[in-house]
Amino acid sequence: MFAIDSYDFKGKRAIIRVDFNVPLNDKFEVTDDTRIRAAIPTIKKVLEKGGAVILMSHLGRPKKNNDMKFSLEHIVGAIEARLGHKVLFAGDCMGEKAAEMAKNLKPGEVMLLENLRFYAEEEGKPRGLAEDATDEEKKAAKKALKEGPQKEFVKKLASYADCYINDAFGTAHRAHASTALIAEYFPNDKMFGYVMENELKAIDGVMQNPQRPFCAIIGGSKVSTKISIIEKLMEKVDSIIIGGGMTYTFAAAPVALEILKKAKEKGIKLVMSPDALIADAFSADANTAVAPADNIPDNWEGVDIADEGKKLFREHILGCKTILWNGPVGVFEIDKFATGSKAVAEAIAEATEKGAYSLIGGGDSVACINKFGLANKVSYVSTGGGALLEYMEGKELPGVAAIRK
Ligand code: 3PG
Repeated sequence: MFAIDSYDFKGKRAIIRVDFNVPLNDKFEVTDDTRIRAAIPTIKKVLEKGGAVILMSHLGRPKKNNDMKFSLEHIVGAIEARLGHKVLFAGDCMGEKAAEMAKNLKPGEVMLLENLRFYAEEEGKPRGLAEDATDEEKKAAKKALKEGPQKEFVKKLASYADCYINDAFGTAHRAHASTALIAEYFPNDKMFGYVMENELKAIDGVMQNPQRPFCAIIGGSKVSTKISIIEKLMEKVDSIIIGGGMTYTFAAAPVALEILKKAKEKGIKLVMSPDALIADAFSADANTAVAPADNIPDNWEGVDIADEGKKLFREHILGCKTILWNGPVGVFEIDKFATGSKAVAEAIAEATEKGAYSLIGGGDSVACINKFGLANKVSYVSTGGGALLEYMEGKELPGVAAIRK
C-alpha cells in the first residue's frame, strides 16, 4: 500500500475522493467548511509533487440527475478560497466534457467533477422503480444496475486518472463506486489521503490505547441510533455521560435497562443530568423553566441540561484524560438552549489544556464546537458522522478496506 508522502505524483493525474458534503444555506453558501479545509493538505501535496488533481464528491442525497440544488458548482468558490488556487468545474462527472477536461489537465491544475450522486450508479441503488414493485423486482433491478451500468461508471471514473486517493473519511462507511469499487482499477496506485490517515490514527489511538480515565459523552436526539455505539464503548471507557434529547427517553426505553445493567456489571459510571431546561416549543421565543430530568411536565420538552447538570458534567470531564464527544446535550442551534452544550465544550477545552486528549466527532458536535469557536482548543475534530460511529463500533469500513486490501 502506498502513502501519499512516498508516492511519485510527477506528471500524474490523481483522482481524489473527498467528502465535500458540506452544509449550505438557502443562498447556497457553505456554512461550515470543516470538510473542505481538512482536504486541502492532500490536494496541495499532489500539486507540490508535480501532479494534477481531479476532485470527486457527493453533495446531499439527490434522487435524480441534475437536481441543481445539489450541484457541486455551489462550492467551487469555497474550495478556491481555502486552496488559494483556481478550480476548473467539469459540469458533469460522466460525459465527453469531463473526460476531455481530465485528459487535458496539466500538472498543477485542479478540476472538480459534478456530484457523483447525480447518477444512480454511484450508490448502486436503482431509481424510478414503480411504487408497487415487489421485493423480487427491486432485487433484480439492483443486480442489473450493479452488473451493468455501475461497472461502466466505475471504469469511466477510473479512466480519468493514473492514481486514486481516498480522502473521504466521512463517506468511508458507504460501499459506493467512488469510495470502494474504483480502487480495483488502481491495485498499485491507490492510497489514503491525509484526512483518512489522520482520522484512522486518531480514532485508533483513542479506542486502542486511551489514557485513563476515559469518558465518552454521547448526546443527540435519538436513543435508538446510539445504542450499539454505547454498548461498544462500554468495552473501552471508564464512564459515559449521556445527554441531550436522548436522556429524556432513555429511562423509558427498554434497551436502557439493559445498558444500565451492563454498565453496573462492568463497573462503568453512567453520568446523567439531574435537571433539564424545559421549553413549551422548539423556538427562540418559547417559555422555559427548569425541571427534574425524569419528571418533565406534559406539553413541555427537555431542550438542554440545566445548572446542576452543567456543574456535574464539567467536574466529571475535568477529571478525565481521554474524552470522546459525539452529540450535543441540547438543541444548541437555538442560542437559549445552547448553554449546556457550551458548558460541555468549554470543559473539554479546559481538560485538553490540562493535558487530556479530546476527540470530537459527528456533524452536530462539530458544528457546536465551531459555533463556540473552540475547535482549535480540542485535540482532534473528526470529519466523520456515521463513518466515525461505525468505525468505533469495530465495523470494517468499505472505503478503508478497499485501499488496504
Ligand atoms: C455524511 O455527511 O455523513 C457523509 O457525507 C455521508 O453522507 P450520506 O449519509 O448521505 O451517505
